[in-house]
Amino acid sequence: MAATLDEITRRAEEDIAKADTPATLNSVASRYLGKKGLLTAERRNIGLLKPAQRPAAGARINQAWQQLQTTLDARKETLKAAAFERALNADLTDVTLPGRRQSAGSLHPITQTLRRIESIFVAAGYQVQTGPEIEDEYHNFTALNTPEHHPARAVHDTFYIQQEQDSTQPLLLRTHTSSVQVRTMEEHRPPLRIICPGKVYRADDPDATHTPMFHQVEGLVVDEGISMAHLKGTLLSFLKAFFGRPLQARFRPSYFPFTEPSAEVDMECVHCDAKGCRVCSQTGWVEVLGCGMVHPNVLEKSGVNPDIYDGFAFGFGVDRLCSLNHGIADSRYFFDNDLRFLQQFS
Ligand code: DAH
Repeated sequence: MAATLDEITRRAEEDIAKADTPATLNSVASRYLGKKGLLTAERRNIGLLKPAQRPAAGARINQAWQQLQTTLDARKETLKAAAFERALNADLTDVTLPGRRQSAGSLHPITQTLRRIESIFVAAGYQVQTGPEIEDEYHNFTALNTPEHHPARAVHDTFYIQQEQDSTQPLLLRTHTSSVQVRTMEEHRPPLRIICPGKVYRADDPDATHTPMFHQVEGLVVDEGISMAHLKGTLLSFLKAFFGRPLQARFRPSYFPFTEPSAEVDMECVHCDAKGCRVCSQTGWVEVLGCGMVHPNVLEKSGVNPDIYDGFAFGFGVDRLCSLNHGIADSRYFFDNDLRFLQQFS
């Protein structure tokens, strides 16, 4: 019996050492110490011995039992510690890794420019008006005194919209924000002092200075006794506020159907301080806007009496002002959504 007990103990120690999960350890425990376990059987067999041998045999079995129990407990602790270690390693955080930068969005440079322009005019008492981008021919051309056969109406300049045969008049994507002048005068009585910012569309092939969609701000002031001097003062003040310093500007006589007289305004090239560069085609001047005194036909068509009221109007490209202000060489950058470009304005 002594040999058997030693043998059982040795095998049990081996099995315990091999058990590498709590489940296998449990089954080892029951194989030796469970109800039908090998050591349990030894204990039961004591009754078969002669009475004189029983105490010694009992003592040896108890000792073996205790020894196995201690080994089992120790192994259990070891497995638990290993499992804990594994879990720790599994979601190990390397606090020395550099963090990942969260990229915050920012306003598009055109939006920033539009907001800047709006705040300059709002501070001067102007109201901001908007109108539809899908416009009818009347508000985009006819009410603005644009003759029936004016080239600006030509299909190659204007995106016309396919319509039902029986529709009353052609629809188009507005080619300028001047249409909002008309809509405002139709709805509101003078005095008026408004700007109309928004998107406009022209069927141009994209190049460095043309994109089929771009942004304009239209201005309109209608009141009694408004003169070209008011127009000039307003535009010079605006350019000074926008570019942050007084700038030379020249008013060149020009033609627009909706103004009489009409002028185009050139300002000194901010790129080269008027010395002459690529941006200003070596002239020192860049054209920035069109303007004039509102034509009496335009006032009249929109319900404003030209015998009482005068008005001035102007319109400029926002993309162009933004490009001049930031030294952007190609207006297609505004529409490419290239973050390397956009992030420079965040
Ligand atoms: N609508 C013109 C354009 O798109 C710009 C313009 C010129 C607007 C003269 C005006 C103006 O109000 O008076 O080119």
